[in-house]
Amino acid sequence: MKKIFSGVQPTGTVTLGNYIGAFKQFTELQDEYECIFCIVDLHAITMPQDRLELRKTIKSLAALYLAAGIDPEKATLFIQSEVQAHAQAGWMMQCISTIGELERMTQYKDKSAKNTSVSSGLLTYPPLMAADILLYQTDVVPVGDDQKQHIELTRDLAERFNKKFNDVLTIPEIRIPKNGARIMSLQDPAKKMSKSDTNKKGVISLLDDLKTIEKKIKSAVTDSEGIVKFDPENKPGVSNLLTIEAALTNTSIKDLEKKYEGLGYGDFKASVAQAVTDHLAPIQERYNELVNSEELDVILDQGAEKAEALANKTLKKMQNAMGLGRKRK
Ligand code: TYM
Repeated sequence: MKKIFSGVQPTGTVTLGNYIGAFKQFTELQDEYECIFCIVDLHAITMPQDRLELRKTIKSLAALYLAAGIDPEKATLFIQSEVQAHAQAGWMMQCISTIGELERMTQYKDKSAKNTSVSSGLLTYPPLMAADILLYQTDVVPVGDDQKQHIELTRDLAERFNKKFNDVLTIPEIRIPKNGARIMSLQDPAKKMSKSDTNKKGVISLLDDLKTIEKKIKSAVTDSEGIVKFDPENKPGVSNLLTIEAALTNTSIKDLEKKYEGLGYGDFKASVAQAVTDHLAPIQERYNELVNSEELDVILDQGAEKAEALANKTLKKMQNAMGLGRKRK
């Protein structure tokens, strides 16, 4: 079976963008692939975090993975900092990356431009992400569009490692969803829907109450044309809402355009809101059952154990290839 690896940061709330770009793909792939999913808390501390809040967010994110449909019988779910190999392999990847290529990462450029004090971890975040992926000999990485550059770097680093040392790492492919690779803000459809957006009206959190979600969608920015048509350049707001409904209902954009022929934006938004709340209601219900359960801890313990065994195999090969420590079998 081919392998899938992906991760989500435990920072702030999980957005509808994260859900459509990542979680939804994960649940669809778990029957076809050996899946490994991670709560990347080491990545979260590249920005300042409140420690109590971080602890809460880690558990909350784990519960959301499961509530969204990850089945722990099929997939491995674990917390990054509980598998030591990530930090070790991350360091090895840092040592084969150049500062120049890391400074070219657009996410680094964006985040460092917005902050006066920038941790060196923010710069070396992509080699750690490469280590996450490469430790599991991953074939496919399902992510949203914003992670494309990081996956390309991961491929470059894997190729560099194999060429320089020994052929031990699998070169992963990226997988981006057809609909919803980049869900946009409801208030500024030129901008990605993001956890860190200060305008919360533009961001749907998976845990927003359903009435709030409905209100946010009904006040989403559209245009004055009154025609429901997919045209991201000229009608970014309408196109974003169409993308959301298409992704959540597994319907084509074409069929949705037909459905809304002759209808105004009021009806359109009400219907999108219904699709979103219908989809999220059962996820929220399951989340509430799971978040403080013992079951969740058992799943995370078992996940860490399984992930550790897999990761250590590759780590040993990497150490041998680089000449670290003493040769081990
Ligand atoms: P993060 O936590 O920012 O986002 C998690 C996933 O959600 C996707 N995503 C979106 N998709 C569509 N529309 C949006 N508006 C949107 N916003 C976010 C992201 O593309 C991602 O798939 N660096 C990663 C975490 C990471 C990782 C990894 C991912 C660490 N190690 C190894 C894959 C493999 C990140 O910050 O994702």
